[in-house]
Amino acid sequence: MARAIAGDRAPRLYLKRDDLTGLATGGNKTRKLEYLVADAIRQGCDTLITTGAAQSNHARQTAAAGARYGLKVILVLEGHDPGEPQGNHLLDVILGAEVRFAGVEDDEAVWEQIVALGDELARQGHRAYLIPVGGSVPVGALGYATAVLELAEQAKAIGIRKADIYIASGSAGTQGGVELGLRLARRQGFDGHCYGVSVSHRSREIAEESARIANGTAELIGSDLRLSPDEIDVLDQYVGPGYAVATPGGVEAIELLARSEGVLLDPVYTGKAMAGLIDQIRQGRYGPGEPVIFWHTGGVPALFVYAEEFTRK
Ligand SMILES: Cc1ncc(COP(=O)(O)O)c(C=O)c1O
Repeated sequence: MARAIAGDRAPRLYLKRDDLTGLATGGNKTRKLEYLVADAIRQGCDTLITTGAAQSNHARQTAAAGARYGLKVILVLEGHDPGEPQGNHLLDVILGAEVRFAGVEDDEAVWEQIVALGDELARQGHRAYLIPVGGSVPVGALGYATAVLELAEQAKAIGIRKADIYIASGSAGTQGGVELGLRLARRQGFDGHCYGVSVSHRSREIAEESARIANGTAELIGSDLRLSPDEIDVLDQYVGPGYAVATPGGVEAIELLARSEGVLLDPVYTGKAMAGLIDQIRQGRYGPGEPVIFWHTGGVPALFVYAEEFTRK
């Protein structure tokens, strides 16, 4: 694909395939859930409750993780029931999750409903584990701190000791974990630098949230590392009109990767992140053959609710 963008002067582009993490079409949340579900089981919980948009990849992977570990899953999704389920929402239903719609979009109002539901279940003798949006808490981010160590080993095995890494950033738990993991990996001889490509918020907000989560994770593992938002890079110029609104750059990126590599991205997260990387390559940021890593975080089920973006041309 890099050749299609920059011809003979193309950098060497690598994909880290977290769209293949294994749970019901994969994605980055599976790595967070590995730790969150373990924490839920350790605490003796029998139910997972979480939230997200109707097309939340996080909600779908939580539904799959609950199915895999015999935990009931209740999804309190933002907004109103869109009608016939499609994409991730359809998979939530197939995976056996109880899907409710909060009737409101506001994060705090949705969280209040989740807390009330957890209390109601407790009165009935159940124990619910409440997972904030995106699983973006220090326990979840552990999944990405450890994922970086895996990536560093794979990179070193093919002779790469230094590279920029691009990743879609939303609720910042993924980038928070990656940032911490990169500082740990540096001690093991891999010098990676992360560029989060925002799909929603301004750079500063994501940098602050990433640092907060990363520091919480560092504390959890007894590390003395602490990050400042000033050392976290987030590109927020590829969001377009807003979260989950497809952009021409994102659509181009999806088609380019599909048609050159047979790999699918999505319009909400990875398409925009790849659009960011393509733009950086076109601006000449990387020299010929220089390694650049794109961390594919999944999201493919959402493609099916964006058919019009690909067919109306
Ligand atoms: C496919 C995909 N990529 C990236 C992200 C961003 O991860 P985070 O919310 O941890 O920033 C998400 C979050 O939902 C996602 O579903």
